[in-house]
Amino acid sequence: MNQIKIFTPASVANVSCGFDVLGFCLDTIGDFMIVSKTDTPGVQIGSVTGEKVPKDPLKNVASVAVLSLLETHPSKCGFKIDIDKQIKPGSGIGSSAASAAGAVFAVNELLGKPFTRNELIKFALAGESLASGAYHADNLAPVLLGGFTLVRSNKTLDIIKLPIPPELFATVIHPKIELKTIHSRAILKDTIPLNKAIEQWGNLGAFISALYTNDYELLSRSMEDKVIEPYRSILIPKFKEIKSAALSSGALGSGISGSGPSIYALSKGKEIAKKVGFSMELELKKLDIEFDLHISKINHEGIKIISHS
Ligand code: HSE
Repeated sequence: MNQIKIFTPASVANVSCGFDVLGFCLDTIGDFMIVSKTDTPGVQIGSVTGEKVPKDPLKNVASVAVLSLLETHPSKCGFKIDIDKQIKPGSGIGSSAASAAGAVFAVNELLGKPFTRNELIKFALAGESLASGAYHADNLAPVLLGGFTLVRSNKTLDIIKLPIPPELFATVIHPKIELKTIHSRAILKDTIPLNKAIEQWGNLGAFISALYTNDYELLSRSMEDKVIEPYRSILIPKFKEIKSAALSSGALGSGISGSGPSIYALSKGKEIAKKVGFSMELELKKLDIEFDLHISKINHEGIKIISHS
């Protein structure tokens, strides 16, 4: 194989109760990448269409991730990455994770798959950390493994793929303002009060149990964030109004997607997810801010191969 074209999806991290550990993969939005072998060793960024990303291989999360893979698995050939960037950086739906995970996935295929999808997470993390300034695999894991994932440890990358309740649909509204992860992490406190921690781990445990038992009501009760949302929500215009519009239209729960500014909701069934999107949209239309709206099933497989030669 000399060339591969892939779709590398967006994702929602944190999912309210699982800051830095819980995430799920979207299906209707993502980047396209073509990765080709070259004669000269090393990694280069070829064409970039769509959103802007750096072309310097030491500043682009995709090439940095590939360089990390090549340190462990040196190759005589090089790689050129052409990117059609559909996920806006700083949107809160895993733009850097899609780039980093997509690039290492594609290179791994071209090398004859020396690594499993799970093993690729640590290389992708080298790229992701460049963008966020921290080591968290909560976007990368669902992009590479698909579905919902839980990162038991961001240090050892002990990652568990979780089941997907069949009727679950996501709604994501992206107000087109940029909020860099590195900045929305900087406003967080290093410590949390014990009573808040107790609520948070109660909710996270229950959320995971609900995924295994298809208990939509338990899922709904668990989608609370007492730790991060109070700080970050003030950076997002109309957050409170959008979230309550989602809940009153029938969403199971709603919160900040990743580090924002996107806001996500989970609903039982596509029709409710659409209705939720409509009411979230109405709130944002009151402001003079452009937005994108995505209604998506949960993508159970993650990155998809489109073609290869
Ligand atoms: N867990 C990360 C954060 C996700 O919220 O900072 C960033 O996309």
